[in-house]
Amino acid sequence: MLEVRDLSVFYGDAQALDGVSLSVGAGQVVALVGANGAGKTSLIRTVAGILRPRAGSIRFEGREIAGLPSHRVCNLGVGQVAEGRQVFPSMSVQDNLQLGALLPRARGQAAAALDRVYSMFPRLAERAAQAAGTLSGGEQQMLAIGRCLMGAPRLVMFDEPSLGLAPALVAEVLRTIRELHAQGMTILLVEQNVAASLQLADRAWVLENGRIVLEGSGAELLDDPRVKEAYLGL
Ligand SMILES: Nc1ncnc2c1ncn2[C@@H]1O[C@H](COP(=O)(O)OP(=O)(O)OP(=O)(O)O)[C@@H](O)[C@H]1O
Ligand SMILES: [Mg+2]
Repeated sequence: MLEVRDLSVFYGDAQALDGVSLSVGAGQVVALVGANGAGKTSLIRTVAGILRPRAGSIRFEGREIAGLPSHRVCNLGVGQVAEGRQVFPSMSVQDNLQLGALLPRARGQAAAALDRVYSMFPRLAERAAQAAGTLSGGEQQMLAIGRCLMGAPRLVMFDEPSLGLAPALVAEVLRTIRELHAQGMTILLVEQNVAASLQLADRAWVLENGRIVLEGSGAELLDDPRVKEAYLGL
């Protein structure tokens, strides 16, 4: 579904990604693992059309999307839940969700999508009229996920969805991702909880200093001595 080939991304003169290739098959969960500054967010932002690559190709469902503006990429079905829960604090939960359905591809289906999001996250339904800024951290993360789903994505890219959440909420976020996977959603996952993300992942790639250094099934990487030492603290 997503094919990234030889992608290079710079911030000015500083290179963030250097010849990165990876792919995400339809219905797969793919984990992207790497230390702070490795380039994970840069990759997601480039696929999303927020950053322009200097070189390389990004094909989504067979179509070249590298360099397309982000609203066009979104409207092809590429969704992202960005790092840091980016909700509009003074708007209600429901209005935040409705914003996600403003994409042309989603507009006609907003009511059905809202029902689905509320049945997935009953706590959001209970708080539909509440200002988003007064939700707990975990609830705001659910809202960010729900808003992304309102855009009828075919691929969802998660950037550190459990960052800063208490353990019980981390488990809830991971359960949500598992549930989306079970429903057939294609997922690219960057998650600080590396063990959990590899357990979920069909395939995984490891980024170091902007380059891919390892690739394998989630189970293979969980068992890899280099991964154990560098990312699992074993
Ligand atoms: N806006 C920016 N301007 C300049 N350099 C940037 C910018 N954003 C990121 N970088 C640099 O690009 C490199 C990759 O950063 P990126 O945010 O993609 O890493 P990351 O893997 O997501 O890290 P983290 O785990 O800390 O979120 C880093 O060296 C970072 O300092
Ligand atoms: Mg990041």
